[in-house]
Amino acid sequence: MDQAELFTLAKKRMHNSCRICKICNGITCAGELPGLGGIGTGNAFYRNWKSLQEYTVKDCNRGTRDFIPDTHMTLFGQEVSMPIISAPVGSIAVNAGIQEETPESIEDQYMHALIQGANAVGVMAMIGDGPQSYSFAVGMKYANLYPGNIISIIKPRPDEVIIERGIMAKRLNEPAFGIDADASKLALMKTKGLNIENKSPKSLYRITQAVSLPFIVKGIMTVKEAIACEKVGVKAIVVGNHGGRILDTMKGAADVLPKIADALQGRMTILADGGIRSGEDVFRMLALGADAVLIGRPVLFSVIGGGAEGVRISFQQWQNELRRVMVRAGAENLKQITRQMIQKI
Ligand SMILES: Cc1cc2nc3c(=O)[nH]c(=O)nc-3n(C[C@H](O)[C@H](O)[C@H](O)COP(=O)(O)O)c2cc1C
Repeated sequence: MDQAELFTLAKKRMHNSCRICKICNGITCAGELPGLGGIGTGNAFYRNWKSLQEYTVKDCNRGTRDFIPDTHMTLFGQEVSMPIISAPVGSIAVNAGIQEETPESIEDQYMHALIQGANAVGVMAMIGDGPQSYSFAVGMKYANLYPGNIISIIKPRPDEVIIERGIMAKRLNEPAFGIDADASKLALMKTKGLNIENKSPKSLYRITQAVSLPFIVKGIMTVKEAIACEKVGVKAIVVGNHGGRILDTMKGAADVLPKIADALQGRMTILADGGIRSGEDVFRMLALGADAVLIGRPVLFSVIGGGAEGVRISFQQWQNELRRVMVRAGAENLKQITRQMIQKI
């Protein structure tokens, strides 16, 4: 089975709540929240995709000899087979429109398949957090079964709750833990009664001091925010706009990534996400300054369409696509991918 067949199967299971467009860029599903769309007109989701397409590989004949590029890297002290992480995606049943069983059971099966597939292919999976009490419990269950593979991304709940969950993540041998700081602006969470808040540098500092595990802040879009994170001991940031689900008018991740990478100069791990649909997109993000990327919706389609095997098929396809462009650009390993290898159209 290839990725296209996988996604067709996913479409059937999702009862058309996602149309599986040829290009997954938020145009068709604008405003579908709950669902898989971006907020409002879908502009911030579209901008993620569009901002990446504005870059091309500069010299596709630079690699003059054949080699198999090395896509391995060390992330939070652990070796991974490629610079791609499964992004946290919460409330699967409601967002993907699956009604076969109870939401809790769907979330459980989804997580199991995702982690099994991620484990088989040698990558990490981030798990999301939501208003339903079972979200966190399901994540913890599989963190226990697959030590080292899972990174919990907690909603910006009160500091004590984040610290308590961070300590639990460490006990379960998660390589890192984090918060999606930008979720403090998610109206949907507040209407569901989740206690979430804007995190001040003081709060972030408190968390980094209380939990001896690399702490990730997800949802960074400016140099100012990135530097503020660095100052309080945050180990990694995820540059991104939450898949376009926070505000309609936000820039795309690739619009802001180069400036943030230039300001940080390698002092923090930089992850980035939004609109990444292929290994070539991964290459572009790395060239713009990311150490590794997160992929959201396409991983969800892979799990829903093919379970653990679906995850394996998609990640291997992205790895092969990444290798192909690395050969063309003349990069034998990830460290050799540079900004000079791409150009703005
Ligand atoms: C349905 C859905 C649910 C999401 N839930 C979460 C979540 O619980 N926590 C989080 O940090 N991000 C969440 N995100 C954002 C993703 O982690 C990621 O940032 C985004 O999907 C990346 O864009 P992409 O889907 O275009 O790859 C969610 C995204 C979608 C589409």
